[in-house]
Amino acid sequence: MSIERESDRRGGVIAAWRGWLPEIPDEAVVTLGEGETPLVPAPRLSERVGAEVYLKFEGANPTGSFKDRGMTVAMSRAKAAGREACVCASTGNTAASAAAYAGRAGMACFVVVPAGKIASGKSVQILAHGARIIQIEGNFDAALAICRRLAQEVEEIALVNSVNPDRIEGQKTAAFEIARALGRVPDALALPVGNAGNITAYWKGFVEWREAGRAEKTPRMLGFQAAGAAPLVLGHDVENPETVASAIRIGSPASREGALAAARESGGSIESVTDEEILSAQNLVAREEGVFCEPASAAGVAGLLKLAREGRAPEGTVVCVLTGHGLKDPQAVVERARLPEPVAASFEAVVRRVGRVLA
Ligand code: F0G
Repeated sequence: MSIERESDRRGGVIAAWRGWLPEIPDEAVVTLGEGETPLVPAPRLSERVGAEVYLKFEGANPTGSFKDRGMTVAMSRAKAAGREACVCASTGNTAASAAAYAGRAGMACFVVVPAGKIASGKSVQILAHGARIIQIEGNFDAALAICRRLAQEVEEIALVNSVNPDRIEGQKTAAFEIARALGRVPDALALPVGNAGNITAYWKGFVEWREAGRAEKTPRMLGFQAAGAAPLVLGHDVENPETVASAIRIGSPASREGALAAARESGGSIESVTDEEILSAQNLVAREEGVFCEPASAAGVAGLLKLAREGRAPEGTVVCVLTGHGLKDPQAVVERARLPEPVAASFEAVVRRVGRVLA
């Protein structure tokens, strides 16, 4: 396995981690410079939790979510295989990422999404990149079943959901970045779980890192589902998943085995957090740490705070993965905090408002 080169870091995850990824010919590489996202120390959160907490801000990827890491690999491999089009089911972020990378690859892109359940920022991205959007009167799980069949029956179409192993390969690079940035692996990793591809990918990454002799241990994997969409916690599928965290509104995770194995083998767990806990965690990291993530992305932080409240917080170094940017879902904030009425354009009127804030 090649040592990643410093000069390759901004060239995207394929250039940076080539020796750790499936084979991709140079001419097929489709990249937008994804990866190398900030690992931000979170002092206020650390104090609340009693551990050294960092935020891996995946919202800093080109389309604003972690999906870009997997998409560069999946799209490049699809291009190398001569595919003409791609398809995915999505709660929004996968679709936004697929739309962007397909555009760049010169491939047609079809996205199948639950009607009316996609956050506005994501819908806008899909439209901007020119993907064909198909809204179904059903949820993500139904959309995925349709897309799997479509890709099976039409050979020219590549499926770019995380059931495609190339997606997992790309996404595991976030584990490498965390280990390299810290100079060690963290004691625990807290992250949201929806279709369960990401927790599967992180676990694969940390295991490979250890097996390559880069570290002696692996972190505990702490996955968190939304309480209204928590099949892995309940032990059975949820027919009508509901949560404010629309990105993880999933009742039948495709990578359930990977997620359960990650929790089991790492000495971690998969638990649930309420919508209220999710929104409160989103608020907290935005206000106290200066990092704005979408509601689903705050599930890991919400989970960590819950563990701390119950006296079960992990010790040592904990990384919370913030999977997507807050601007993806403006509505989630606007519904809770409205702009105040305007005041006159005078010094006095503005000072009166400022005074009220400072009083
Ligand atoms: N966080 C965000 C912001 C997501 O968009 C997703 C999944 C997850 C967490 C959960 O990751 O599915 O690998 O367990 N979004 C998918 C999508 C389902 O279609 O964009 P997971």
